[in-house]
Amino acid sequence: MPSDIQTQRIRVYLSRRLPPAVEERIAAQYDLVRNPQDTILTPEELARAAKGCSYIFTSAMQPVTRKVFQDLRGTLKAIGTLSVGYNHIDIPAAKEFGVSLFYSPGVLSDACSELAIMLLLNAARRGYEADTMVRTNAWTGYAPTQLLGIGLTGRRAGILGMGRIGRAISKRLKAFAVTVHYHNRNRLGPSEEDGAIYHSTPDSLLAVSDFLLLLAPSAPELVRFFNRDRINLLPQNSVVVNISRGDIIDDDALIDALQTGRIFAAGLDVFANEPAIDPRYRTLTNVFLTPHIASATIDTRNAMGFVVLDGIKAFEEGRTAENQLC
Ligand code: DGY
Repeated sequence: MPSDIQTQRIRVYLSRRLPPAVEERIAAQYDLVRNPQDTILTPEELARAAKGCSYIFTSAMQPVTRKVFQDLRGTLKAIGTLSVGYNHIDIPAAKEFGVSLFYSPGVLSDACSELAIMLLLNAARRGYEADTMVRTNAWTGYAPTQLLGIGLTGRRAGILGMGRIGRAISKRLKAFAVTVHYHNRNRLGPSEEDGAIYHSTPDSLLAVSDFLLLLAPSAPELVRFFNRDRINLLPQNSVVVNISRGDIIDDDALIDALQTGRIFAAGLDVFANEPAIDPRYRTLTNVFLTPHIASATIDTRNAMGFVVLDGIKAFEEGRTAENQLC
């Protein structure tokens, strides 16, 4: 910890608005410079705006590229991202320029798993169409064949990426009498597996996934992983949920499968190029869409902020917190 940031109030840049309780804690400890627009910045804008700051607090989707580390070389000491994903940050560049990185794993599993279940239920039980029918006055009354969906009970879910969030979803799915299958790079131990059935390949998982939940973190080798060939491995009438990152899906392939009925429905919280999503999703009635809000509860977003702040405090005290990535 260099002496210049021990002796004076540390200047920090806040690239997004954060929950009031988190901002209050930051403001109590540090001199705060804000992005008044509360928008995602280009790396150039970020580097300009954060000039002279020792820390940057940011969130998912804000690109923090090599350019940022280069331009802020010598002043920038740490970045805190309120996210479990860190694919928006160039980690090798952070390491090269000696910038420490803190993120917020562990505290958002409940919120994210709740949203995954919400997407699954709404996709399987036709939530968008049902809501629209009532709101648009198109509902002419009860009918035995109206909006028939797919029930969860007795079906099989395939979880691709059985980390903390996957395990939280698995626990909840059991309450719906769903059998959970999963694929992970490494098989979990029996207590973490908790009855879920391991598949050593993603393709074998897909073949049993009446409900497929995409939870794998963003990685170059997973870009457009969910393509036509993989869709064709799924059982008929499957439902797909994505709360990881949008680039894991080949949009042309998924949209086609939703249009032809090869896939019954999808629940999507994340998209390639968000917020400029493929406009065809908006026209499909068998998708339930949410705007990247899996962790968006008041308690969770506060906890995400606090865990990042605790990690940075440990850094200032010469300790290494569990959520320090580099
Ligand atoms: C994350 O934490 O990475 C989410 O995508 C944002 O909450």
